[in-house]
Amino acid sequence: MPVITNIEDLRVLAQKRVPRMFYDYADSGSWTESTYRANEADFDRILLRQRVAVNMENRSTRTKMIGQDVAMPVAIAPTGLTGMQHADGEILAARSAKKFGIPFTLSTMSICSIEDVAKETDNHPFWFQLYVMRDRSFIESLIDRAKAANCSALVLTLDLQILGQRHKDLKNGLSAPPKLTIANIANMMTKPRWCMGMLGTKRHQFGNIVGHVKGVDNMGSLSEWTAKQFDPALSWRDVEWIKSRWGGKLILKGIQDAEDAQLAVDSGADAVIVSNHGGRQLDGAPSSISALPGIVDAVGRKIEVHMDGGIRSGQHVLKAIALGAKGTYIGRSMLYGLGAMGEQGVDHALRIIHRELDLSMAFCGRTDIAHVDKGILLPGTF
Ligand code: GLV
Repeated sequence: MPVITNIEDLRVLAQKRVPRMFYDYADSGSWTESTYRANEADFDRILLRQRVAVNMENRSTRTKMIGQDVAMPVAIAPTGLTGMQHADGEILAARSAKKFGIPFTLSTMSICSIEDVAKETDNHPFWFQLYVMRDRSFIESLIDRAKAANCSALVLTLDLQILGQRHKDLKNGLSAPPKLTIANIANMMTKPRWCMGMLGTKRHQFGNIVGHVKGVDNMGSLSEWTAKQFDPALSWRDVEWIKSRWGGKLILKGIQDAEDAQLAVDSGADAVIVSNHGGRQLDGAPSSISALPGIVDAVGRKIEVHMDGGIRSGQHVLKAIALGAKGTYIGRSMLYGLGAMGEQGVDHALRIIHRELDLSMAFCGRTDIAHVDKGILLPGTF
């Protein structure tokens, strides 16, 4: 068994263990993937200031995101088809997040349903991510289900009303469950752990949708569903309607532009997530970490600004917090852990990120995440 010391180790193991179509689904961006690559690469341009002879005892990464206690300013991002990276993936990742003391966000496009995650994690509150679909009665029922499941925030995604093109998904014929073609069967036969897990669970389809929408008993691919069901006419009025229907904490995901950030403030949301959907939507958009300072300048005094995109280490979290984010989200870093080793792999991912965050903060001369600011960054590099 390899010794796991960083997120890249988990990625390599996930690539070995997860069928190609699902590994590729997670590990790709749209079109040329330039934004996908920039999300990670732009972190490396920002340099840290080392300080010495500062008392490093009694360190803490504990803080709050939207008023809720977190063991570190990292939440698990909503990712589609998580339960295809590993059997019961959403439940396992939610359990790991609960143990660690950070929020888990369940995607609308998950395999395990809202009810399953609530039940299997003892109704521990989690966050639910919502996509706006044409069928408003279905949205209403999703919101009601999230309330009944004790979710403590709704994360409304605004940047995926139409789907960015990811070449590999088209070439692989991505669907959930996978179609039993000769090529897929041949590939799955090389992934015995994954197959054993899938044989041991009934959860193989989009659990929030199949059986909950009239006439949908098998929906196959994400691209078919988005093309038919997601509402391309989504507007800020809809956001306000969702806010009043939900009545709880609302986080708006997919903000890249200062004008949109101001509109988000006007809509009454509690936080925005600076995000380009992991480089999976508008290829050619700026990386999230480069977009973050402009949004913090524009609205950071009025609303919490969070970010996702490219976070593969605790140092990335630290840099985002230094630039004014109140919280960050990990999608792929969690999925790699899950695909590699199930719940234990997500535990590894969280421990790795926490350790890197804690040690790097200390090297920069700070002992409390609440005192991390631009002062820990080398001028001229951000
Ligand atoms: C869905 O959220 C996706 O990016 O595929």
